[in-house]
Amino acid sequence: MPTMKSRRSAVLRLLIKCALAMATLAMTIKYCTLELDDIIHEPIEEFSLEKHPYVPPTEWDSRSPCPALNTLANHGFLPHNGRGATKKDYIRALRQGYNLSLPLATFLTVSGHVLLSQYSHLSLADLARHNCIEHDMSLGHWDTLQTQEYAPDRPSEWLFDRVLAHSSDGKRMTLCELAAARVERESTYAHKLDAVHEEIARGEMSMVLGVFGGKDGRVPVDWLKEWWENERFPEGFKPDHQQTLLDTVRGSWKIRRAMNEMAQNASTKPT
Ligand code: HEM
Repeated sequence: MPTMKSRRSAVLRLLIKCALAMATLAMTIKYCTLELDDIIHEPIEEFSLEKHPYVPPTEWDSRSPCPALNTLANHGFLPHNGRGATKKDYIRALRQGYNLSLPLATFLTVSGHVLLSQYSHLSLADLARHNCIEHDMSLGHWDTLQTQEYAPDRPSEWLFDRVLAHSSDGKRMTLCELAAARVERESTYAHKLDAVHEEIARGEMSMVLGVFGGKDGRVPVDWLKEWWENERFPEGFKPDHQQTLLDTVRGSWKIRRAMNEMAQNASTKPT
C-alpha cells in the first residue's frame, strides 16, 4: 500500500516533470517565433549577378543532386563551400536567387529538414542521402548504387540530353514536354516511385517551369542546359515574378494530369 508520504512525492515528481515540459515548450515557442519574426522581417537583397558572380566549386566543396541549390552555392547566395547552412540561410537564398515566396521557401526548407530528420545545420551533400528527399528515376542523375548511401551529386549529360530531346523545336521546353521526359524515364522501371517521391519529382519540374518559364510557361533550352548541367545562372536571367506555393502545387497537378493522359494514351494505342 503506498503511504501518504510516497504518494505526495509521486505528485511532486509529476509536478516537476510538468513544469519542465511546460518550460521547454515555452522556450521552443519563444525561439521559433523569434526566429520566424527575424525571417519575416529580413530585407531581401535584389537579385544581382554582379554582386553574386559564378565561382566554380572546388573538389572540397559540398554539393547536392539539386541543380537549384548547387547554383545558389556557386553564386554565393548560399555558403560557397556548401557546408553548414542554417534554415534561415536556405530561406533567404531561395527568395533572393529564385524569388520564391516566403511560404514556399519556408515550406521547402522545413520539409527538407524533416525528410532528412536533420534539424540543425545542413550541408548540400546531406541532401544526397538516398530515399530521404533524393529518389530514383531522376531526370538529371543516375540512381544511387545499391552499395552506396548517397546518390551522385553530378548531373549526367547522357540522361539530360534525353530530357532535352523532348523539345519539339530544340529551343524551348513546355510542361507537356517535361512531363513526357518524366514518363519516358519512369517507363524504364518495373515499379513506380512511392507517392511522396512522385510528388517531389513533379514539384521540382513545376518549379523549373514556374521560375524559368516566361509568360507562356516555356523554358529556354539553353537556360536549362546552363543551369542544370553547369549549375550556373544563365546570362540574362533575373526572376521576373514571385513563384508561390500555390503556383507550384497547381503546376504539379498539371504535370500529373499530362503524365496520366500520356500513360493512358500509351495503354490504349493499338499494337
Ligand atoms: C530547400 C529547397 C530545396 C531542397 C531541399 C531541394 C532538394 C533536392 C534534392 C534532394 C534533389 C534530388 C532529387 C532527385 O533524386 O532527383 C533535388 C533535385 C532537383 N531540384 Fe531541388 N531542392 C530545393 C529547391 C529547388 C528549387 C527552388 C528548384 C527549382 C527552381 C529545384 C529543382 C530541382 C530539380 C530540377 C532537380 C532535379 C530533378 C531530377 O533530376 O529529376 N529544387 N532537389
